[in-house]
Amino acid sequence: MGLLISPSVLNADLSRLHEEVARVSAVADMIHLDVMDAHFVPNLTFGLPVVESLLAGTEIPADVHLMIEDPDTWAPRYAEAGCYSVTFHIEAARDPGMTARAIRGAGARSAIALKPATDIEAIDAYLPFLDMILIMTVEPGWGGQPFLDTMLPKVREARRRADDTGLDIWVQVDGGVSEDTIGPCADAGANVFVAGSVVYRSSDPSATVQALRTRAEAAAR
Ligand code: DX5
Ligand code: ZN
Repeated sequence: MGLLISPSVLNADLSRLHEEVARVSAVADMIHLDVMDAHFVPNLTFGLPVVESLLAGTEIPADVHLMIEDPDTWAPRYAEAGCYSVTFHIEAARDPGMTARAIRGAGARSAIALKPATDIEAIDAYLPFLDMILIMTVEPGWGGQPFLDTMLPKVREARRRADDTGLDIWVQVDGGVSEDTIGPCADAGANVFVAGSVVYRSSDPSATVQALRTRAEAAAR
């Protein structure tokens, strides 16, 4: 299973979204798009029209993280729009199994995210319909928060569950990922790493992506 780096544009200059994505697209594996609706989380970012516009102008696979109410309605629409991976929060979904299947049915990889307080057992019934588990390593809503290392046992549990299925299920971490914290995440079994502020606050975002990859590869089991 390869290691993938998915920079988040949350802390990029959102008025220049295409250019900001282009700064990392040669070295990143995916681009992480944080959709927030000011209801599921207090913050508000962008929605489907902006994501569609971005998809029309870039080749890099879109890794959409929906922090919204009613993902059952909206998640399949992001898949239909051409997103590569669509992640929704289990705390918000009415029927997570149906929604995961609908994402796949529309041609995208399906993923469920868990807030820090949500137990890993919550995903057990849905593993056959998942391509990725997202373990939040901060409280969702903002970039630039400190990494919660208390989430590392949950990352290990996610990896164990993913492996026990015998399926190729990825484990993603999101929040506070840096050159210091990416190694412990990889060691715990994560293989997809979202990094926002460390990449876009860097004077050389693509060099930072490469440095993150080097650290993750050194620590991966
Ligand atoms: C937070 C978002 C993250 C955020 C990560 O709710 O889901 O994707 O952009 O930013 P950093 O890497 O700065 O914690
Ligand atoms: Zn995110």
